[in-house]
Amino acid sequence: MRLVHLSDLHLGPPGALVEGLDPHARLAQALRHIADHHAVADRLVITGDLAHWGDPAAYDALHAALTGFPVPVRLMIGNHDDRATFLNAFPDQPRDRAGFVNHAEDLGGLRLIYCDTVEPRTHAGHFCAQRRDWLADQLAGCDRALVFFHHNPLHLGDPSTDMLSLNDADQAALRTILITHAHKIVHLCFGHVHEPLSGTLAGIAFSGVPSTLHQTLPSLAPSDTSPMAALEPSYRVLLLRGEDVVVHQFPFAFDGHVTQHANNWDAWAKPAD
Ligand SMILES: [Fe+2]
Repeated sequence: MRLVHLSDLHLGPPGALVEGLDPHARLAQALRHIADHHAVADRLVITGDLAHWGDPAAYDALHAALTGFPVPVRLMIGNHDDRATFLNAFPDQPRDRAGFVNHAEDLGGLRLIYCDTVEPRTHAGHFCAQRRDWLADQLAGCDRALVFFHHNPLHLGDPSTDMLSLNDADQAALRTILITHAHKIVHLCFGHVHEPLSGTLAGIAFSGVPSTLHQTLPSLAPSDTSPMAALEPSYRVLLLRGEDVVVHQFPFAFDGHVTQHANNWDAWAKPAD
């Protein structure tokens, strides 16, 4: 199974720059790269911050950009999104009974679970008891699961970023659920941080994907501001091979020189004098 993980598009109304960059051009570049290299993927999952200011025009443009895309797309929302405006533009978007943009699907013996961690007017994540119950039910009803969040569900040791993670109380309660079902969770994915991240949460492997737009520079010093810069954007591809999960990162906007090397011994051997 091949899953493409893209995140944090931060689309404004078409024509508006965000952080000095054109998010629509970046999205087009990413989609072109994915279509060229991963048209056989099983899903393209976009883990939120679809829009930067929640504008209807941004969602309409996203809808147009994804129409006819060769890979089935699953959308999530992030702290920059507006849930109601998003749902207006994507009326077929599945959601749970409470109206949160929580949804899940079974694919090849794996349950893909997409979680809504958004709370209005805060950049920190929330995952209330109602949403946690929904997730616990989804995990209880399957043998194998991969869970997607927008917000990082754990602190990362970066003080400025940790202010914006899932809030402490919800994080602790979520952790209990994840630990209960750890034996069946093959991986956790999130966006939000705009950084290439990997690690484990109570032994469960996770990865965080960079943004298609602007990136966060890691900083472990105390600070209440986040250093951001126009570093290389990327998306990630998860290859699920038997019991294993492999995560590849594709710097889709890189346009520097690429050399092709043969892999036989002589091709890498030190040239003879
Ligand atoms: Fe973001």
